[in-house]
Amino acid sequence: MQLSTDYMGLALRNPLVASASPLSKTLDGVRRLADAGVGAIVLYSLFEEQLRREAALDARLADAGAESFPEALSYFPDAAEEESGPRAYVSLLERAVAAVDVPVIASLKGVTPGGWVDYSRAMQDAGAAAIELNIYYLPGDPHTSGRDVEQRHIDILSRVKAAVSVPVAVKLGPHFSSTGEMALRLDEAGADGLVLFNRFLQPDIDPEILAVVSKVELSSRAEARLPRTWISLLHGRVRAALAASTGVEEPTDVAGYLLAGADVVMTTSALLRHGPAHAAVLVNGLSAWMARKGFTSVHDVRGILSVAHDTDGEAHERASYVSALRDANSSAYGPW
Ligand SMILES: Cc1cc2nc3c(=O)[nH]c(=O)nc-3n(C[C@H](O)[C@H](O)[C@H](O)COP(=O)(O)O)c2cc1C
Repeated sequence: MQLSTDYMGLALRNPLVASASPLSKTLDGVRRLADAGVGAIVLYSLFEEQLRREAALDARLADAGAESFPEALSYFPDAAEEESGPRAYVSLLERAVAAVDVPVIASLKGVTPGGWVDYSRAMQDAGAAAIELNIYYLPGDPHTSGRDVEQRHIDILSRVKAAVSVPVAVKLGPHFSSTGEMALRLDEAGADGLVLFNRFLQPDIDPEILAVVSKVELSSRAEARLPRTWISLLHGRVRAALAASTGVEEPTDVAGYLLAGADVVMTTSALLRHGPAHAAVLVNGLSAWMARKGFTSVHDVRGILSVAHDTDGEAHERASYVSALRDANSSAYGPW
């Protein structure tokens, strides 16, 4: 079975990618993911705020004259902060690249086109096979226009593209007036990959304790439908590689994304739920599904259930609903 594939020009042994998560926060975690058989690993994200903090510390250090004032050393982040700071990130990245034989992709998470994005060069120098930009932007100010939000994505991408030569992917959210046009604009601005989609932490209100609470919840399989729909619409219409992210629990979820047109399929929740070894279940299960269906290579599977290229205009909008209706009509619930 030919599982090997290409993602943004990187050669992968299979299309399953471990998306950014705490599983890749240690060298041991990275090794476990590689040993379980993933095709590539996206390291957890380095946050814009962490970089700002380090820049502020460096500035204070410079102001204080680090060489002449030994007490200035106290401005350095303490051990706990250092463990999750930019220096620790680059160190882990270097060690991860040396330790595993699959591509390691570094991840930057932020919302402004500021100087922090130049940090992508340090990631490239540390051996990152590519950079993934997680643009985690929820415009809380109701005066922010949709065009401004979109432009921010383009500006961040442009800054990073100007700084590095490795491929750059943008991980974006699904909340745009026209997600398709946003994808096309990012594609035109030089994105090598589009990761669909980011999953936003949504705080909740607990009426019992009269407080806002926020906790990370793992995804469910049904959440894959939205990214799968967009991937089926964008397949063949963008030059950028398409990475599916959200709702992969079983091998058939991986197959579904490939059929829709994904170049690679990412997973986090399932690996957190069942452990990194679940990656082998997904890869072996994909292989078994392909054999059962008579496919011999991932290339043969990819995009065969995407929206046809000659579909245009309103037909595009109807396409996913028409097939959904068709499926519902032939289901056990009968016509309606
Ligand atoms: C605990 C946890 C931590 C995560 N940390 C990151 C992160 O650092 N950077 C990032 O881009 N995505 C992060 N994600 C999002 C995942 O990479 C992924 O996009 C999302 O969980 C949807 O995929 P899934 O349904 O397979 O979980 C995190 C998700 C979880 C559950």
